[in-house]
Amino acid sequence: MSENHRQPRPAFHGSDIEQIEKYYGIPKETIVKFGANVNPLGLSDSVRSSLSEHLDIITSYPDRDYRSLRQVIAAYCGTDMEYVVTGNGSTELISLLIGQRKARHALVIGPTYSEYARELSLTGGRISHYYLDETRVFRLDMDDLKNTLTDDVDFLILCNPNNPTSSALTLDELRALAALCRERGIFIMIDETYVEFAPSVEEISGIPLVSEFDNLMIIRGVSKFFAAPGLRLGYGVTSNRQFLEELKKHQNPWSLNSIGAFAGELMLEDTEYIRRTRELILSERSRCLDTLKSFPYVKTYPAYGNFILLKLLKEGLTSFDVFEHAVRQGMMIRDCSSFEGLPGEYVRFCIMNPEDNTRLLRCLGELLA
Ligand SMILES: Cc1ncc(COP(=O)(O)O)c(C=O)c1O
Repeated sequence: MSENHRQPRPAFHGSDIEQIEKYYGIPKETIVKFGANVNPLGLSDSVRSSLSEHLDIITSYPDRDYRSLRQVIAAYCGTDMEYVVTGNGSTELISLLIGQRKARHALVIGPTYSEYARELSLTGGRISHYYLDETRVFRLDMDDLKNTLTDDVDFLILCNPNNPTSSALTLDELRALAALCRERGIFIMIDETYVEFAPSVEEISGIPLVSEFDNLMIIRGVSKFFAAPGLRLGYGVTSNRQFLEELKKHQNPWSLNSIGAFAGELMLEDTEYIRRTRELILSERSRCLDTLKSFPYVKTYPAYGNFILLKLLKEGLTSFDVFEHAVRQGMMIRDCSSFEGLPGEYVRFCIMNPEDNTRLLRCLGELLA
């Protein structure tokens, strides 16, 4: 019996490394995590040594207002610290934001990260999806979206760059969208978890819009770019004071621990680490895309995140076949079959160190070149 017929196909998410270890019997330490979208440089050396010298920080409560951290975040993003709220990963802020909007009718631009729909489903409002068109390489068609933003839509959610397509809207497009949404009384949540990996952050980040528009909130975090998903540090930026106060009222005090607050400042000020990360991701992303473009059985798309989406074009070859082929060689990529609104066979992988990327390209080439 071929692999394809083994039922049911297990569904693994990008960070399900323990399940992979158990299912395939491969020690998790030996698996390269191409599915987690985390910076392969790991924790910066200076953050690591400073953290180990300041462990006693856990004997104190963090500042309830996180003033020092919010100042650093504001300087890092180029915004006002009064617009900034910190949280327990971007996940907490996404949850609070969606919970507090209490949208009548939310529109989610997809295919995208499934947490938005999960959180929305808890609020009881109506949820619609607007799916990006694959034939337009997942670029948003603004005129078409305008027609979809019907009168009763009061909340729009988008991820920029988007997971899993790695596509992005430009600042100009975001500005036009924010203006249209303001006219129609629609609040926008922009998840910028992957924005610092973009070829040009200035070209796509919506941060400059925060002071211009009070109908939007931007969410970011340190999990991916600063390789610290265990720290659970996220932040939100909005100039809507009233909404910010409402959101904070529903947040537990000290939701970010003192280690997170301390390490966050160090990370965002570590310009050398930021430079090295961008240098690595930008050059490796181009190299991977160039190689993949020469494979006859894949289609690639312009990538703004630290990950690349691939459409498989080989008759009978499924995303799960490619996932298994890679995992058996100790490389975990993301089988995208669980993403709503992505019909067809797709896999996603993130940029790791050059030797690992070369190994993955070779492995993919065995099936797709
Ligand atoms: C688009 C997106 N937003 C948010 C998150 C969660 O990030 P955090 O670790 O900051 O909660 C993820 C994690 O995969 C993600 O892909």
